[in-house]
Amino acid sequence: MSNDHYWRAISVESVSPVCFPSVALYLKSGGNYVLYKDPHRMFTDVDYRRLERSSTEFLYVRSGDMEAINEFMESSLAETLARDDLSGIAKGRTLYQTSLNCVIDMFESPESAANLQRCRKIVQHILNHVATDAPVLESLKTVIDHNFYIFAHAVQVAALSLLMHERLFELAPDEMNDVGVGSLMHDYGMTYITNELLDKNDALSEIEYHKVKQHTQKGYEHLKRSGNYSDIVLNIVRYHHERYDGNGYPTGIKGDEIPRSGQVTAICNVYSALIMNRPHRKAHSHADAIKIMHEESQKGAFNPELFNYFVQIANERNHA
Ligand SMILES: [Fe+2]
Repeated sequence: MSNDHYWRAISVESVSPVCFPSVALYLKSGGNYVLYKDPHRMFTDVDYRRLERSSTEFLYVRSGDMEAINEFMESSLAETLARDDLSGIAKGRTLYQTSLNCVIDMFESPESAANLQRCRKIVQHILNHVATDAPVLESLKTVIDHNFYIFAHAVQVAALSLLMHERLFELAPDEMNDVGVGSLMHDYGMTYITNELLDKNDALSEIEYHKVKQHTQKGYEHLKRSGNYSDIVLNIVRYHHERYDGNGYPTGIKGDEIPRSGQVTAICNVYSALIMNRPHRKAHSHADAIKIMHEESQKGAFNPELFNYFVQIANERNHA
């Protein structure tokens, strides 16, 4: 067993010089974690530039230090995103990292009202930012350790789904927030599936595939029981693998019987899965992902009208 569970990757761009909490920072070298800075020394601009020069993308921290880091990152997020001296990509990475940390906690305790409150704030930042700042989607492609795939994927899907909803529909602010929370939590049911199964390189057997498919219904049931989540959130969790032609799961409903937020999330979900590196294959380019999805759409996977809008929005963002 690796001890990866005790380490969290933090993108270098999200470590603000001088004000970052005083925790130990590590570099990963081969399979080992090597101390870069002890808690007593301040992380400075010199460190930042040094790491940038050596093209270091991630620093590592002990998971026990995450609470202090999250508190700092979440409370300074608005200020960070408003800074003129940071590039759009750097802001996007910070937003991504902060969201990711929050989703990890949400998956651990979805019943916690405090976590949900944090998550709602983050959704608001994602929403404000994806609607106005094109480089954000680009920075969401940040390479991430594969153990964090589900969380990274969640943030991507939320950003895309919020963007789609923002462009296409007139939702009340509360409903938009629910769309964000629902897309961040859409794969929550994956916590019921063993890592062994999730990391499997070979094709899944029929029984294994059946188990993986249960994440939609199980996630839905658990979150519904907690009583914290609205129908919009629950619909996204339950229906993000339904297909427009009725050949999806868990219920096999089709066409506009599938709640609209579920239809949108289904599209964003497939796109995000295609453009990310997986243990068994490399990421597809944007163009390839769209091509694959186009074929799927012709076979009846998606609402064609929504899919066309998605292609327009995603193309526009990728050429921005
Ligand atoms: Fe899923």
